[in-house]
Amino acid sequence: MSKSVAKKIQAIRGMNDLLPSESPRWQFFEGIVRQLMQRYGFAEIRTPIVEQTALFARSIGEVTDIVEKEMYTFEDRNGDSLTLRPEGTASCVRAAMENGLLYNQTQRLWYQGPMFRHERPQKGRYRQFHQVGIEAYGFEGPDIDAEVILLSARLWKELGLMEHVTLELNSLGSSEARAAYRDKLVAYFEQHRDVLDEDAKRRLTSNPLRILDSKNPAMAEMLDGAPRLLDNLDEPSQAHFEQLKAMLDAAGIAYVINPRLVRGLDYYSRTVFEWTTTALGSQGTVCAGGRYDGLVEQLGGKPTPGVGFAMGVERLILLLETLDLIPDEAGSDVYLLAMDDTATVAAITLAEQLRSELPWLRLQLHCGGGSFKSRMKKADKSGAAYALLLGEDEIAEHTVTLKALRDDQAQQRVPQAMLAHTLSERLPNTP
Ligand code: HAM
Repeated sequence: MSKSVAKKIQAIRGMNDLLPSESPRWQFFEGIVRQLMQRYGFAEIRTPIVEQTALFARSIGEVTDIVEKEMYTFEDRNGDSLTLRPEGTASCVRAAMENGLLYNQTQRLWYQGPMFRHERPQKGRYRQFHQVGIEAYGFEGPDIDAEVILLSARLWKELGLMEHVTLELNSLGSSEARAAYRDKLVAYFEQHRDVLDEDAKRRLTSNPLRILDSKNPAMAEMLDGAPRLLDNLDEPSQAHFEQLKAMLDAAGIAYVINPRLVRGLDYYSRTVFEWTTTALGSQGTVCAGGRYDGLVEQLGGKPTPGVGFAMGVERLILLLETLDLIPDEAGSDVYLLAMDDTATVAAITLAEQLRSELPWLRLQLHCGGGSFKSRMKKADKSGAAYALLLGEDEIAEHTVTLKALRDDQAQQRVPQAMLAHTLSERLPNTP
């Protein structure tokens, strides 16, 4: 009789587990981000992961890569078309409108969480990935553009990344100026039709500005000669851009003007920017954003300017790892173990007592029995600095044996009444 072996179910391609060995690095990053948002006066918003498909189609744009080929779209049991969010801006605008957050007031919001795009997975590009984003509403002037960029710059400084990233900056002008420029650009591309690749030919009618973004070396020379959007800006957008540059100069933030930076989402106007690195190969954009002054109105709200960015958390963690910029953190301070099963109850009691006395202490209690040797092995593997051992003798004399696991300090019997004090003195992360 043949035994059938059940086929193991695997995770979906491009969607990753975050393993316990990796999560401390994410927590390190997320902790710094959360504090930074508070320091700049941004409040967290959490929106659903699923939205109506029309929200993304209308905001990101029908003829973008995201909407045309990357969205996870499905019909729910009511027959409604729903989509796993491919980004956070559209959801944020919807939530802000729906909850009256834009009514005669300004808002500075931030969010974090998983986003979904059906792209070809590779290093730094996944189908479920995570963004941290910020969005500010109701501010017209370039001061908020500067503030948003300065927030990101401070994050790089505090993570030690500043010298590894470059700020690329451009302005897309008003939608009217862009429409006029679009006609000029199409006329130019028509003259060079023989050099256009298939993708560019397809975009010529649907989204010609995106052709500027092409990395195809065969088109590089032709693209260098194309009319520049920056030379065709409307006057108010030009002034906005000049003021922003002056603010960044005053703040000592270096940038590179990239006249071909157009972004892959349709909602942008005026300022656009990307922080890029050369240390990650082809997926080198770690943070990207800009202004989207028309989006709220386009989604049915009262005209309200918006600006923001989103960063790719996987890419930033990869970058921090590549540059060895994440401090190693041991999982625990102490590992408390009963030397044999007769001391288990006393060990549990002591563990809880210590957790009450020292709320900052990271204490792992041995569970699961085993020989003394195997208990000590687990203590060592826990990464803890000290083991606390409880046996018959210790229980009888109300002491505990304190044993250093990472250096050769002599082991010591400490009265249980003195233990909290001793640990506070010995451990480096005592508050
Ligand atoms: P985005 O350029 O599509 O912009 O994405 C922002 C960042 O998310 C990228 O620079 C990258 O770091 C990360 N990212 C995007 N796709 C992937 C992927 N498949 N795998 C890993 N990381 C990825 C937006 O999403 C806009 N909502 C940003 C924004 C906010 N603009 C204004 N406000």
